[in-house]
Amino acid sequence: MRMHRASQWVGSTVPRSPRPLQYVFPALAMGTAVVCCLMPWLQPGILSAQEPSAASSVNALHQMRGQQGMVVSASRPASEVGRKVIQDGGNAVDAAVSVAFALAVTWPEAGNLGGGGFMMVHPGDGRPAVCVDYRETAPRAATKTMFGPRDGRHTHKIVGVPGTVRGLALAQQKFGTLPWKRLVMPSARLAAEGFTVDRHLAGSLNGVLRSRGVRSGERFAELRRVYGKPNAENWRAGDRLVLPDLAATLTQIAEEGADAFYRGRPAAQLVAEMRRGDGLITAADLDEYQARVREPIRGSFRGYQVLGPPPPSSGGICVVQALHLLEAANLKQYDRYSQEAVHLLAETSRRIFCDRARHLGDPDFVSVPARLTDPEYARELLQQMSRKRATASEALAPDIPLAGESESTTHFSVVDGAGMAVSNTYTLEASWGSRIVVKGAGFLLNNEMGDFNWVPGETNRRGRIGTKANLIAPGKRMLSSQSPVIVTREGRAVLVAGSPGGRTIINTVIGVLVNTLEYQMSLPEAVDAPRMHHQWFPDQLTLEADSQRHSSELVTALKAMGHTVRLRRQQGSVHAIQIDPDTGTLHGVADRRRGGHAAGF
Ligand code: DON
Repeated sequence: MRMHRASQWVGSTVPRSPRPLQYVFPALAMGTAVVCCLMPWLQPGILSAQEPSAASSVNALHQMRGQQGMVVSASRPASEVGRKVIQDGGNAVDAAVSVAFALAVTWPEAGNLGGGGFMMVHPGDGRPAVCVDYRETAPRAATKTMFGPRDGRHTHKIVGVPGTVRGLALAQQKFGTLPWKRLVMPSARLAAEGFTVDRHLAGSLNGVLRSRGVRSGERFAELRRVYGKPNAENWRAGDRLVLPDLAATLTQIAEEGADAFYRGRPAAQLVAEMRRGDGLITAADLDEYQARVREPIRGSFRGYQVLGPPPPSSGGICVVQALHLLEAANLKQYDRYSQEAVHLLAETSRRIFCDRARHLGDPDFVSVPARLTDPEYARELLQQMSRKRATASEALAPDIPLAGESESTTHFSVVDGAGMAVSNTYTLEASWGSRIVVKGAGFLLNNEMGDFNWVPGETNRRGRIGTKANLIAPGKRMLSSQSPVIVTREGRAVLVAGSPGGRTIINTVIGVLVNTLEYQMSLPEAVDAPRMHHQWFPDQLTLEADSQRHSSELVTALKAMGHTVRLRRQQGSVHAIQIDPDTGTLHGVADRRRGGHAAGF
C-alpha cells in the first residue's frame, strides 16, 4: 500500500495539517475503535483530536476504524448522535435520519430542514438498493420566466418547497427500526442545550453574518437575531451556540412526525415568511410535497457495481457514464497524475457535462435517454476523443453553454454492523441557502430554484444555460449534481462516498472512485488526493493546487494539449467509509478540506 504523507500536501494555499503532538487521546476507552487524526503513518493506536479547538481542528483528515457502526459527517456532534443510535440498536438508516436532523443544528450552512437532497440506501439483507429523492420542487405559482438574469440569489422567491423532513420520514418508514422520536430528539436537545462551535462553524457564521446583504438587510434580520453573537462579536471556536426556536420546531417534528413540518405550526410560519417577502410557497405547496423512492442508477467498473442517484440528480448518470468511459479507455495504463490521465479525465468530464445539459431534468417532466449509462455509448464517446489534444467545448455543442454554481451542501456516510449502508447528500444550495430564517421557527430556507435554467433559450459563454430539460415548471424538481454513491461487490457494500461542491461534486466523486477502485489507493490517500474539474462550459480545467502532483510541468503539458488550466485552493469535502469485505472492518474517513468527523465502534 502506498502511503500518502501529509507533508506531501504542498499546495501553497492549502494549510498544512497540525503536528501529531497537538492531539490528545481521549478515545482509548473505545475498545477496537481507532481514531487517527490524519497522518496515515501514525496508524492504529493514535487517537482523535478532542473537543474541537482552533489548534486541534486545523484541516485534519480524521479517520477511524470500527466493526459495528460508522458515521462520517461534517460535524463531530452530529456524527456522535449517529453513532449513539447504532449503539442503541438502530440500523444505518436510523442513524442517517438522526444525523441529518443533527446537522440541521450543528452545521447550519448546509445541514437543513428547509432544503432537500438524496439518500441512497443499500439494505444489505437482499432487499434492493433504493434512492430516496427528497429534492425540492418549484411552487405551484412558479413560471418558466419568473427569473431574469439579474435576479438575486437571496430572495424569498428563489426558495423551493423543502423536501428534507418528508424524505427523512420516508426513509425511516421504509427501513428504520427505532421510533421516530428517538431519532429526532437528540437534535432538539442539541439545539435547546447548545453545543460547542468549532473552527469551521465559527468561520462559516462569521462569513455569513459579515456578508454585505446580511449585515443590514431587513430580509436577514431573523438570521442576525438567531445566529448573531451578542454585541455582534465574532464567533470563536469553543463558543456555545443555543438555538431555542429550532429546538421547538424539532421537538414538534419529533412528537408529531413530518406532518408537523408540512401542515403544522412550522408550515404556517413558513407560509407567513413567504408572505412577508413576496415568496411563492403556499400551504397547498407544503401539503402536497412528496418524497419519492426511486430506482438507483447502476453501473459497473472493474468488477464493482456503482449505485448513484437518478434524475432529478444528474449525479448517478454522470458518474456511471464517466466510469464506463474510463474503463473502456483503460485509464490505469497511465500514472495517476500524468498528463495523459488528467487529460482523459478532463475530456470525459467535458462530454458527460455536455450530455447533462442536453438531456437531464426531472424525469416526471422530461424523458431521459437510457443509453447515457450504456457502456456501448461510452465506447462511442471514447472513439471521438483524442488522447493527445483537448476538444474545444464549443465543438461538442456550440449552442448551450453552462451557468456557474455556488458553494455549500454536505454529505455524510453511514454503515452498520449488518452491512446496511447509507450515502446521503443534502443541501440548501448556496452556503446558508437563501439566508432567510423562518421567523420564530429557527430554520433556514434553501435557494434551490437557482438550480433551474433561469432564462429559457438564453445562453452565454460565461455560463448561462437555457436548455429545455431543466426549465422551471410548477411542481418540477430542479436538476441537481448531488452524487451520493454506494459501491458494492457481490451484493455487499464496500465503499460509501459523496461530496458537496455544486457541479464539482461529480468530478470529486469520480476522482475518489478512480483513486480507490482503479489506482488502489487507501481511502485516506484517495480522499486526500488533489482533485480536478471540468464542466464543459466554461471551457476550463480546474486543478487543486498541489505542486507535487499537479506540478507546473503537468500544467504546462496540459496547456500544450490545448486545455485552459486554472488552479484553485480546494474542491469538495468527501466523508466516506470503506468496508473490508473479508473482515467487515469499517474505515471511516473525513476530508480535511472543510473538516469533519468519523465516529464508529
Ligand atoms: O443540487 C445541487 O447540485 C446543488 N444545489 C448543490 C450545491 C452545492 O453542492 C454547493 N456546495 N458546496
